[in-house]
This record gives sequence, structure tokens and C-alpha cells, in this order.
Amino acid sequence: MFRTHNCGELRLTDAGTEVTLSGWVQAGRDFGGLTFVDLRDRYGITQVVFDSDDDAPLAERARKLGREWVIQVKGSVRERTNKNPNRPTGDVEILARELMVLNKSKVPPFTIEDETDGGDDLRMKYRYLDLRRNPLQQNLIFRSKLALAVRAYLSAQGFLEVETPNLIKSTPEGARDFVVPSRLNEGQFYALPQSPQTFKQLLMVAGYDRYFQIVKCFRDEDLRADRQPEFTQIDCEMAFVTQEEVLNTFEGLTRHLFQEVKGIDLGEFPRMPYDEAVRRFGSDKPDLRFGMELVDLNAVAQGKGFQVFDGAELVAGICVPGKADLSRKQLDALTDWVKRPQIGAKGLVYVKCNEDGSFKSSVDKFFDQEALQAWAASAGATPGDLLLVLSGDDEKTRTQLGTLRLHVAQEYDMIPAGAFQPLWVVDFPLLEWDEESERFHAMHHPFTSPKREEIDRMLTGDHDTMKSLKADAYDLVINGAEIGGGSVRIYDRALQEKNFQLLGFTPEEAEEQFGFLMGAFEYGAPPHAGIAFGFDRLCAVMNGKSSIRDFIAFPKNNQGRDVMIDAPAAIDAKQLRELHLNVTLE
Ligand code: AMO
Repeated sequence: MFRTHNCGELRLTDAGTEVTLSGWVQAGRDFGGLTFVDLRDRYGITQVVFDSDDDAPLAERARKLGREWVIQVKGSVRERTNKNPNRPTGDVEILARELMVLNKSKVPPFTIEDETDGGDDLRMKYRYLDLRRNPLQQNLIFRSKLALAVRAYLSAQGFLEVETPNLIKSTPEGARDFVVPSRLNEGQFYALPQSPQTFKQLLMVAGYDRYFQIVKCFRDEDLRADRQPEFTQIDCEMAFVTQEEVLNTFEGLTRHLFQEVKGIDLGEFPRMPYDEAVRRFGSDKPDLRFGMELVDLNAVAQGKGFQVFDGAELVAGICVPGKADLSRKQLDALTDWVKRPQIGAKGLVYVKCNEDGSFKSSVDKFFDQEALQAWAASAGATPGDLLLVLSGDDEKTRTQLGTLRLHVAQEYDMIPAGAFQPLWVVDFPLLEWDEESERFHAMHHPFTSPKREEIDRMLTGDHDTMKSLKADAYDLVINGAEIGGGSVRIYDRALQEKNFQLLGFTPEEAEEQFGFLMGAFEYGAPPHAGIAFGFDRLCAVMNGKSSIRDFIAFPKNNQGRDVMIDAPAAIDAKQLRELHLNVTLE
């Protein structure tokens, strides 16, 4: 038997018990005749002591143990004289009688501690060592608990977990597909699913009524902290439901998960139409943990001879509470920040609302105290506040201000720690016009239904009408992160054909790519709707983190590489030939 107990469970009540423990050497310390070893496993750390007065050869062997060696220790539990209140096992130690080295370890390339000295690349290369660290273990334990809670809740609500295939044909969710060459079908490729979207709809046609799956999805897109090329969704679909029932069901799931796994009551989720979110927060996923809403300043800022503002479609700002004392350097830094190509603003105007009631702005030449007073009044600014103002095209300026709002809140610690603010964003547009390609894209995906009352306008309207169509599409946002998205679906062949046509598909293309789904709609498709949560994102956000990487056991780096196994990698000529891939090798 390798162990009678794990390294996290012994307490004072076990004193006197003979035990066997196995684990990794976290650290060793020598104090004269005593050698202390911290023995670690997934459950915790237990102190083991070797006493040279008791057994000198044993103590000598203990002194030679290295970090991360795997050992087995037999001995008796006793009360510690020098207790460690920071450790659940801190009242006891094991007085060792036997020591067995189960495996040696090279010196690890970084320290296996909560705060490690290893850089990102090194830790990714030795992910199995990084995963030994407590913070990462806690993340994966959390993830496992959350998955269990999801399954329990949805099963209790009558959802069936059904697996869908990974070798499929492209499903357009807005990213590129990863493709897999077929050996048996020369020149043809499978695509890995960007989501199980079409399959879950087919399950509704098949009468399964309520489906869910915790499922891997694959998207070949540019990576960011909250995006991985393979990630996990809690994917769901329901038949015979309205949007209202979907929102209520998944608000219920989210509330349950926070309650069950974190002990937090989220209360009712507010709802906000997409247009309002963009107008008030410059974002379709507003972070509602803090204020600083966008304020329109056209009425007070235009017509005073300042060309930049006068020629702009929108002049708008945010009021940063209590920040009138920012230094020149800090304001310059904010200006540089908004001018970066990622944000793309031409400049930043500021107004300091001084404590004495006066104003100091970067546009004093054009605006006197009275004019600036009017700005402050419009923005609800009081003495001590700072106004930051941008101008330009309405949509772009709102997006820029929305990004600035987040940046300022983070930079100046204005986000309350430990707060969770959920929000349903609803009434998304059906279509999005893309200037570059001069065509419509589906805002959510091509299977999303316009609102019922919009169907006539969709069937008969002109180009501008199409831009204004609203869909029964919704996102769940928590703390400014898009946690989930879904929609009511089209279940009628003619409407689906019309949607493909608007998206620029010829009837032949639509038939070739989605004939199977439109065909299914002709065999008694029920009205249906659904949603998918980003499971990795939910894990991260529930833990107050923005990066999903540390909630995935083996993630990819920013170049989409797994540096531990060194993938992607070349394959040999024979494999290429078998796959009929005509690649010339050097
Ligand atoms: P959508 O594309 O909005 O909807 O995806 C649902 C949720 O998945 C998460 N997500 C990601 N997480 C990590 N890395 C990524 N690359 C990534 N991409 C998306 C987000 C997002 O909200 N089939 C539809 C759902 C439906 O209509 O039912 C879909 O996939 O949290």
C-alpha cells in the first residue's frame, strides 16, 4: 500500500496513529539533528521529521532528498511544538521511521510554489510541473466542480447530454475552421466544429426537446487572453420555448452555479437592449461594476469655433470621479493610449473640474469658464472630477470611449474587488454591414431568427431596412466579459433561404453547405432556441480573472502552439502522401 492517508488530511486527533504517506518533496530543512521535509500532494502539505537521535542513517538519507523527489514515508503522527496556523495540517507532523525513494527528480526549472520564479514560456513548456502548483490545482479543481454542478442542474431540468461529432463540415460562427484531411476521400476535408450549432438544431428536429453538452469547440482566430483555439462550451438547445424561457432557464443555471460553487447570490439579472448598451457604455458587453457612462456633449461643445468638434458627428465624454488631480504626465499617457492604433482616436480633450469651482481644460483657447461649466453640468461632473472627451464618427467614438472607460477604471482601481455584475444584452441586430467586403455578416450566426414582428420587413425591405432588423439574440455578460450567447432560431426553410441570400450566398452555395439543415426543416422542425456559455471564461470570471489559460489544463500559447508537445509540427512524407496532400518537401 502506497499510503494510508493523503498529505492534507491528518489532524491533532490523529496523534499517535501509525501512517504511510506518499508525495513530492516540497522543501527540506536541516536543524542540527533534525531534518524536516514538507511532503506535498494534491490534498496538501504535511511536515515529516527525521530525528538523527532516533535513527542516524535514516536522517542522513533524508538530508539527501532533492526537491520534487517522490517518496514514501512511514511513521507516527505527533503534535508539533511549533505549530503552523496557515496550514490545515499545521498542528501535526510525522516522526518518520521508514523512507522509500519512489522516484528521483531533476532540479525543476522553476520553483513549485504559489508564487513561482518561472516565466510564461518556461512554465508552458513544463506545464506538468506548473500544474503541480497550488493556484493551478485550485483552478482545475474549481473547473471540475463547476462542470459537475452544470451537469447536475441541467439534468435535473430535463436536459439530455448528447455528444455530437468532431469531424464535420464547416459551421460558420465567424472564425476560420481548422480542417482535417480525409485519407479515404481524396482531396476532401473535414472541419472541426466551431460549435455544435447545426447538430443541436437537428436534435431539436429529432424531438430531443432539451439538449446540453460540455463540449470542445475549435476556432482558428487571433488569440487573446480570453480566447483559445480550442475551448469548451456549455452548449444548450431547447424546443418549444420563447426567448423569455431561455433567458430564465440560463439565468437560473448561472445563479445556481454562483450559489453552489461560490456561495454568492447574484440576484435578478438586469436586461439591456444592444442599442442602449452601445449608447451608454460604448460596448455590447458593458461592465456594470462601475459607472462613468458616456455623456453626449454635442449640444454644449459644438458651435464654439473648435473645428475638431464642429466637424464631428459626435462629441462625447466620460466623467472620471475624483481624478481632477491627474498630472500632466498622466494625462499625456492617457492621450497616447487613445492614440494607439488599436484605439485609433486622434486626440483626447480633458477638463479638470477644480475643487475651487474653476475649470482647466486642454481647449481653454476655445471654451471659456462658462462654456466648460455647461460641459460639467451636462456630464454631471462635480468639483474634483475629470472629464475626458473624444469626438468623431458616432459608432467609432463610442467604442473608443467605451474602451477608455475600461482602461481608466482598471488603471485607477475603480472596480470594486469581489463584485459580480451579470447582465443580459438583448435585441441584437440580425445583420452587420461590413464596409470592407461590402456585404452583410450575421451578427450572431446565420441560423438566428429575426424578431417575429420583423419577418415581413426582412422579406420585403430594402438595404437600409436590413441594417435595422433586430433579432431574438442575446448575450450573457458578467463583469464586462461575454460569457454566453444564443438566439431563437429560424425553423422555416423559406426564411432560412432568405437569410442566406442576404448574407451573400447563392441558392446553390446555401444548398451545398446547409442543405441538410434546410432539408430537416421540411420534416417537422419545432420552434427552438438556445445558448452556449464559454465554460473556460465562466471559470475565469467566477474567479475574478480575465485570462482563461490558467483554467485549461493544457492550453496553447499566443501563437496557437503547444510548446510542451511542440505542436503543430510537420508530418512525414508518407503521411502526407496517404492524405493526398500535395505538399513539396525540401
Ligand atoms: P458564440 O460564438 O457566441 O455562440 O460562443 C459562445 C460563447 O463561447 C465563448 N467563446 C470562446 N471562449 C474561449 N475561446 C474562444 N475562442 C471562444 N469563442 C467563443 C464565449 C461565447 O459567448 N453556437 C453559438 C451559441 C448558440 O447560438 O447557441 C455560439 O457558439 O464565452
